[in-house]
Amino acid sequence: MSEATAPEFINVRTEGRVGVVTLNRPKQLNALNDQLMTELGVALKAFDADDNIGCMIVTGSEKAFAAGADIGAMATYTFADVYKGDYITRNWETIRSVRKPVIAAVSGFALGGGCELAMMCDFIIAADNARFGQPEIKLGIIPGAGGTQRLPRAVGKSKAMDLALTGRMMDATESERAGLVSRVVPLDKLMDEALGAALQICEFSLPSVMAAKECVNRAFEGGLADGVMFERRMFHALFATDDQKEGMDAFVNKRKAVFKHS
Ligand code: CAA
Repeated sequence: MSEATAPEFINVRTEGRVGVVTLNRPKQLNALNDQLMTELGVALKAFDADDNIGCMIVTGSEKAFAAGADIGAMATYTFADVYKGDYITRNWETIRSVRKPVIAAVSGFALGGGCELAMMCDFIIAADNARFGQPEIKLGIIPGAGGTQRLPRAVGKSKAMDLALTGRMMDATESERAGLVSRVVPLDKLMDEALGAALQICEFSLPSVMAAKECVNRAFEGGLADGVMFERRMFHALFATDDQKEGMDAFVNKRKAVFKHS
């Protein structure tokens, strides 16, 4: 898809400074095919480059955030196809280069690549009907979009092994208890909750929001000493921003801060 072409499998809209991407392959429960993942990457990168956007939400339908990578498409792939074509890495991982926050608002099934996509987002807000799982083992494969790495970091080894080896699903309550999701809300409140969180984030200074995201990702992806050093340097660097002066002056003078994102 070129950037000029309207996407087929996603809907894109804005709510104030929030960019919302809705996965839209309802008949296939939002199964993630190559075109959809390319469209998602293009949309997120466009929001990331847009000065009018401060935060993004990725969501699906009530029945499915996404039921996984498209099994019908994968059924005939050979090793040569996926290796030479750099399957997953080529377009699924675009989201990893997005520097503004991305919230996953999940209702219904988030399975296989759907669970992995949610975990690639910065945090997950779930509806009470959400169900997470890595059922790839039932298909004679394993999770291939980071599930074997991000799931144990999120829920610990024992539960990650349980999910990856048995293919069972976790409901929203278990997912929150395990630390995979940050909040669980009634289904009809999901988008209000996600938009509320996103709009709150948009009110803060964008450089500090981006630095916080980068630092937490260091904790998730690297070791403690390097992570703390990285955080310290980012913390120091934020004293060079106008927004640090504004935020602290506003506190000291008991007024509301007005951030310029600079
Ligand atoms: N790929 C392609 N099509 C899918 C799909 C997927 N991952 N998941 C669901 N669909 C399709 C079904 O084939 C069905 O299509 P038809 O109506 O044309 O038959 C339609 O969506 C509705 O699905 P069901 O009739 O199965 O709906 P259900 O409510 O009975 O069951 C479900 C829902 C439990 C999610 C079931 O669809 C299911 O088990 N889906 C597959 C889940 C899965 O294995 N995901 C992992 C994929 S592999 C992967 O993701 C690799 C990776 O790590 C990158």
